[in-house]
Amino acid sequence: QAATFHKVIMGLYDFLKECFSGFWDYETPKVMVVKNRTLGVIYRAVQFLVITYFIWYVFISQKAYQDSETHPDSSIYTLMKGTAVHGDDILDSVEYASPSEGGDVISTLLRRDITYDQKQGTCAEYYKVENANCSKDADCILGEVDFNGHGRRTGKCVQYYNHTFKTCEIQSWCPIEEYAVVREPALVEAINFTVFIRNYIHFPKFKDSLDPYCPNFRLGYIASQARESFSELCRTGGVIGVFINWDCNLDLNPSYCKPTYSFRRLDVRKDEDNSGYYYRFAKYYSKNGVESRTLIKAYGIRLDIIVHGQAGKFSPIPTIISSVTAMTSVGICTIICDWIMLTFIDKNEVYSDRKFDEVRKIASAFGWKIQSNICI
Ligand SMILES: *[C@@H]1O[C@H](CO)[C@@H](O)[C@H](O)[C@H]1NC(C)=O
Ligand SMILES: *[C@@H]1O[C@H](CO)[C@@H](O)[C@H](O)[C@H]1NC(C)=O
Ligand SMILES: *[C@@H]1O[C@H](CO)[C@@H](O)[C@H](O)[C@H]1NC(C)=O
Repeated sequence: QAATFHKVIMGLYDFLKECFSGFWDYETPKVMVVKNRTLGVIYRAVQFLVITYFIWYVFISQKAYQDSETHPDSSIYTLMKGTAVHGDDILDSVEYASPSEGGDVISTLLRRDITYDQKQGTCAEYYKVENANCSKDADCILGEVDFNGHGRRTGKCVQYYNHTFKTCEIQSWCPIEEYAVVREPALVEAINFTVFIRNYIHFPKFKDSLDPYCPNFRLGYIASQARESFSELCRTGGVIGVFINWDCNLDLNPSYCKPTYSFRRLDVRKDEDNSGYYYRFAKYYSKNGVESRTLIKAYGIRLDIIVHGQAGKFSPIPTIISSVTAMTSVGICTIICDWIMLTFIDKNEVYSDRKFDEVRKIASAFGWKIQSNICI
């Protein structure tokens, strides 16, 4: 037993000595030429694929020689234009476009629900509000404010306007919108309104600014591009995203860089009742010394302008990194072909005997079967 132990220790010692004595030697791989037509064809085919991939996809298509910038600074100015005849009135952009300043969100009014002549006072609560129905005063709690209601309860149960049933009385702007609202017809001319979009863009990394490109879009065109029916939008309103995409190759003249525009409806329509876009505003006036207002619920198209941009410009560092990657990757051909050779072609271990002969000399001294070089 002691003899075996001694033999193992000595063997290990020789092995380590071999490793470290080789530390100051220069090592170079031995090249083995395999005269095998099948393997040769596979090798060239794999090499061709790898080289084509790098040249065509990585360098030409993905432009790996460029440095890229994906967060441009952007500024948007919008302007809505058009006139509409509405009854006896002419409406211009001051009436239907908001905000008048014209930023990256702009909306145009398509239809109005108007409640005329509201005043501060007391009147009956809307009957669909929770606990609004009543038969006697005791059903209504004085001072209660319902979150979905219109105002503060006075504790009285009153007739619901000219109807036969009763609801709780509230202190509010009266009469309530649901009772007194007048629905106006849609502004059909809005289909021919135009929106002008001016978009300045600047790529800080490359210090390149691009000339603004200023298209005019008809609202009808925007709706059709977003696959929405204009009459449906007039009924419910809607939010449409205007996506501006700049994809610029700054190695060419920047004037070649033109953005593309696409349109998509953004308000989700899972639940028909909650989709659409509207907002309320009021016009105030004084009638016989009493402050009064006209409440307007405006349905419209809101355009959200969203800018995406990316630019690429030649830069030495990505070029070097990509070239080195390409060259190294050609080495994968050898790995694949070695594997095919050793697994499928080399039935009689003729090639592997030659390929691994250096290691086998050391390994066979111990009777080990090693297939790769352990010492570095
Ligand atoms: C209140 O009464 C009216 C008329 O009877 C009815 O249509 C309505 O659904 C009732 N509201 C509630 C919240 O029950
Ligand atoms: C209530 O009055 C309005 C007009 O003031 C009328 O159009 C409506 O039909 C009346 N409703 C009932 C239930 O009488
Ligand atoms: C919109 O413009 C087109 C062409 O100018 C015209 O034929 C059409 O009647 C207009 N639509 C409306 C609703 O005014």
